[in-house]
Amino acid sequence: MSQALSKPTQPRDEITPKALFLSRRQFLKAAGLASVGTFLAACAPSTGGSPVPSAFADELTSKEKALSFNNYYEFSLSKTSVKDIAADFSTQPWQVTIDGLVRNPAVLSLEDILASYEQEEHIYRMRCVEGWSMVLPWMGFSLKQLLKAVEPLPEARYVAFQSVLRPEEMPGQQSLDYYPWPYMEGLRLDEAQHDLTILATGLYGEPLAPQNGAPIRLVVPWKYGFKSLKAITHISLVEAQPPTLWNSLAANEYGFYANVNPAVDHPRWSQATEIRIGESERRPTLLFNGYDEVAGLYEGMDLRENF
Ligand code: MTE
Repeated sequence: MSQALSKPTQPRDEITPKALFLSRRQFLKAAGLASVGTFLAACAPSTGGSPVPSAFADELTSKEKALSFNNYYEFSLSKTSVKDIAADFSTQPWQVTIDGLVRNPAVLSLEDILASYEQEEHIYRMRCVEGWSMVLPWMGFSLKQLLKAVEPLPEARYVAFQSVLRPEEMPGQQSLDYYPWPYMEGLRLDEAQHDLTILATGLYGEPLAPQNGAPIRLVVPWKYGFKSLKAITHISLVEAQPPTLWNSLAANEYGFYANVNPAVDHPRWSQATEIRIGESERRPTLLFNGYDEVAGLYEGMDLRENF
């Protein structure tokens, strides 16, 4: 990510695929899931025609790791410190404003959101641009439901997301004073309306912890993790591609699209492989993080240029 973010530390040429391929049943067991309403397809090994390595086992990342190894620059650049520094961050009351090019703008409290949209489990891989990944069981709902309720106007082509601005509680917003806070991200409207794009309010069956983006965050599993903005306060439908924090800081390193793509290296490191947190060997990175069903969104686009 930033100048401050470290390079992956594992040797990248050690790709030793495990001869392991979980069947759907084994996968269910590994994930500890069997309940109705749990979304599994998105994280099941891809069955598309593309050359997906068969050594592709998705076990949940340990809860302990997911809650103690975090990127959240508003609090700290140190992944292992975020948890403690963010511990007292207050997330009540919380409101999300949805406005811009919509017929029905709204200001929703977290309670409104929880009452209006059923929270379901979505198990997704998350691939950070830094070269590590996790498999996480989010609780949440498709963003497209919320977008439908506000009724985008025909001119709306993008969705701009904004995170919370509270320098008095977020030390990183003071020390990183050259960053254009608040954290901002954006998606094309059709990306935002894709079934896989969710707003998450929980993780491992519990409300989101502050370090994971409480009380509500975006999760876009086929894009590098920096697109999945934490602690959302504002969603705006707009006509032009909105500015984003990382793109403003280093446009050649963090593109607007940021689709996971092993063929497009970060200028400072390879994106061909990744280390799954909790494992010791690197594994191949998959185009779109393995979510082939989004390919249709990019037909006719040069994925190398739109990194
Ligand atoms: N959202 C905000 N507001 N601030 C951040 O620093 N970091 C991003 C993303 N969302 C970030 C953010 C990055 S780089 C990643 S990889 C993921 O959050 C990490 O999410 P996690 O800590 O829940 O694993």
